[in-house]
Amino acid sequence: MRTDTGQVFRLEDYRPSDYLIPRTHLTFRLDPIRTIVIADLTIERRAGVDPSAPLILDGDDLNLKRIELDGIEHTAHEATPERLVLKDLPETAQFQLTIETELEPDRNKALMGLYRSNGVYCTQCEPEGFRRISYFLDRPDILSVYHVRIEAPRAEAPLLLSNGNPVDSGELDNSRHFAEWHDPHPKPSYLFALVAGDLGCLRDSFTTMGGRKVDLGIYVEHGKERLAAYAMDALKRSMRWDEEVFGREYDLDVFNIVAVSDFNMGAMENKGLNIFNDKYVLADEATATDTDFANIEAIIAHEYFHNWTGNRITCRDWFQLCLKEGLTVFRDHEFSADQRSRGVKRIAEVRALKALQFPEDQGPLAHPVRPRRYREINNFYTATVYEKGSEVVRMLATILGRETFRAGMDLYFERHDGEACTIEDFLKVFEDVSGRDLSQFGLWYNQSGTPNLTIKPSYEAGTLTLEIEQSVPPTPSESRKRLMHIPLAFGLIGSDGRELQWSSAEGGTVDGGVIHVRKRSQKLRFHGVAERPVLSLNRGFSAPVTLAVEQRPEDLIFLARHDSDPFGRWQAFNTLLTEALIAAYRCVLGGKATVFEDSIARLAGSIAADDDLEPAYRALAITLPSEADIARDIGKDIDPDAVLVARKALVGFIAGANRDSFHALYQHLHDTGPFSPDAAAAGRRALRNVLLGYLARSNDGTDIATSHFTHATNMTDLIAGMGTLAHEHPGSPQARAALADFERRHADMPLAMDKWFQIQATVPGEHALETVRTLMRHPSFSIDNPNRVRSLMGSFSAGNQSGFHRADGAAYLFFAEALMDIDKRNPQLSARLATAFRSWRSLEPIRQEKARQALVSMVKMPGISVDLGDIAERSLA
Ligand code: PHE
Ligand code: ZN
Repeated sequence: MRTDTGQVFRLEDYRPSDYLIPRTHLTFRLDPIRTIVIADLTIERRAGVDPSAPLILDGDDLNLKRIELDGIEHTAHEATPERLVLKDLPETAQFQLTIETELEPDRNKALMGLYRSNGVYCTQCEPEGFRRISYFLDRPDILSVYHVRIEAPRAEAPLLLSNGNPVDSGELDNSRHFAEWHDPHPKPSYLFALVAGDLGCLRDSFTTMGGRKVDLGIYVEHGKERLAAYAMDALKRSMRWDEEVFGREYDLDVFNIVAVSDFNMGAMENKGLNIFNDKYVLADEATATDTDFANIEAIIAHEYFHNWTGNRITCRDWFQLCLKEGLTVFRDHEFSADQRSRGVKRIAEVRALKALQFPEDQGPLAHPVRPRRYREINNFYTATVYEKGSEVVRMLATILGRETFRAGMDLYFERHDGEACTIEDFLKVFEDVSGRDLSQFGLWYNQSGTPNLTIKPSYEAGTLTLEIEQSVPPTPSESRKRLMHIPLAFGLIGSDGRELQWSSAEGGTVDGGVIHVRKRSQKLRFHGVAERPVLSLNRGFSAPVTLAVEQRPEDLIFLARHDSDPFGRWQAFNTLLTEALIAAYRCVLGGKATVFEDSIARLAGSIAADDDLEPAYRALAITLPSEADIARDIGKDIDPDAVLVARKALVGFIAGANRDSFHALYQHLHDTGPFSPDAAAAGRRALRNVLLGYLARSNDGTDIATSHFTHATNMTDLIAGMGTLAHEHPGSPQARAALADFERRHADMPLAMDKWFQIQATVPGEHALETVRTLMRHPSFSIDNPNRVRSLMGSFSAGNQSGFHRADGAAYLFFAEALMDIDKRNPQLSARLATAFRSWRSLEPIRQEKARQALVSMVKMPGISVDLGDIAERSLA
């Protein structure tokens, strides 16, 4: 594990490699503590490179056994666990290099390289894990054709998988056997994968548009095959969708997915052999919530879509990570929108973007969608690269129009298939198909920070004037910002709720319902507008910006009822709620009673009951902004306890005003038919469960929630019942009984226990810290398993504002100590968890100081990993 902190990698330092590896032949002799890897590499000197140039291969923690050059033992090398430098190389343009290394998969707790999870050998190579398997040019612009041979005892590992197509298999001595795989598509080392073990399989097949029959397999623990059915269905729908919407066809004879229980991320797009965190594969109504089903569908799609955006066309270097991630997130968002409800999906995306990406962009960890420097690339798998990266592609589609966007994508696939590319290559295809200059737009990739638009509307004699000003706040290492191209979708709404037209617009570019903001300030005039319009701005969240608009509360109420854009309706009501919550927060701080307008409760009541709206939409609309949302919008000097009180007050106010109608609706939504995970059924459950949260505030609240829990026939409702009891009536006999009952029924189901941990870790208030401490000793908890750690400690730190940000700082200290312990095993995990501190400067001074001390204690820890050190130091900078 690297613990030196010095080296910084810079985008401008990119240089093509002197050597290439056109062919890679790997042999694995698997063993839990002594695995032999023989890498037989065809090395090619790039044209024009001096034969005296050394070949420098990357390694990480490697144990070298032997090196041969063109079949002869080679001694002119310097080997350390981190590097292999070869000199005195043959003058010929090509030669064969053989490297033998020895690995200990069982001791690998970092879950990078080759490790064992639950007795199953598996690999994780993105971004720099291949160098923990063999010395290699471990960089994404080195594309190689892989041939892989795996040998293992048949009893321990009847299943031997790698990338590409299976080409051979057979028996060996000592009850061992082997399998060989060949992947004809050249790929970077980060897409290499191997899996070996004893697993069950759900099989199916898919015939591509070109008539290729593809064998599909999802590998899971024996006995759990049935739980992969939803994932399989999602896979086939993804394959069809990519053909229909992007014209992309699958390109191998097999496509395999393996679910493993120890995994640092969600899933990995290895060519032809995706490896998944089991939580994103396994599901049935008894074990998975509707959110789990939706995540499985999205992540299966995401990894599959990478086959073209990531694998066939990959990244030149890791600075270009968003080239594959932002684009692929955009593709999976579009897929889910087509499979489910577009409007509802968009609202959920924007909520996630604001909850995860906005705080990143507005704090010390801010970085451009394409960063220019890093110390540890693992720390750049961020909401900015993924989610904002997707928003940038969405803006491109908005600016160019769907057809031109598709033409650009077609050109991208045609021009760059088989290459390792940059963001410039990507933008260029869109410039070429549209004839437009996208250089100002390209700033979205290069400049960090959330832009703000201030808009002042005025109306007089048929003319609407919008004074628009843009600003981008300073972010770390970018104090001066350039002006951006911001596509702002909008509508003008008349008093009858219909869209108003205009005869001409001057002072800026307006096209197809989109204002193109490019300057610092502009005065846009719309002539021929029949009456004073209500403005619907940033429809569909066309740009990831913050807006400051003078809008009257009655206009927001009007929009919340009448905007034809569902996102616009949601946004209007959400703005009203946020303003009410912030006002209440100020009251709490000032020791005054909170007051709310009746109109808010009435609006919540009428939206909840409006049968013309989808239940899923209604559920989202009447869900109050979270405590973290409120804190973000307050922006500074935050007292999380006061936020909690203010939010509870508004929940109580809305619940009290709508008690009877919410109760009637709650009962009406009771579903008695057979379970379906589809979006419509999930939407009804979502609405009913949000209503439950409100009803839990009434006198008979515990009874309703207890009965909800007792009568639940699926995990979604079970969790809603238990969560409501635990959060609204913490410590009550009913809450304790529900938790005990759930624990008893799910003790041998780790993924279900994760939900049990999470609910308890997020109970608001001081007591949560003691709960988390205690649960760390629970038999179902394991500090080595990322899912367990995230569900207990991740949800505490990121999802429990009042508990984690206790005024006495005790939770910070506890958490810092826990991170330092995790860091010794799994630096990626500790570093990711540490981002919970990223908004520490927006807290009130006392908490700020306590958080700072906790960060400093981590930085000072001897032997801290590069990963955790990087996050802690940047957070303090
Ligand atoms: N490339 C994976 C994805 O987004 C994420 C990942 C990164 C997984 C690094 C593992 C390690 O699809
Ligand atoms: Zn991805």
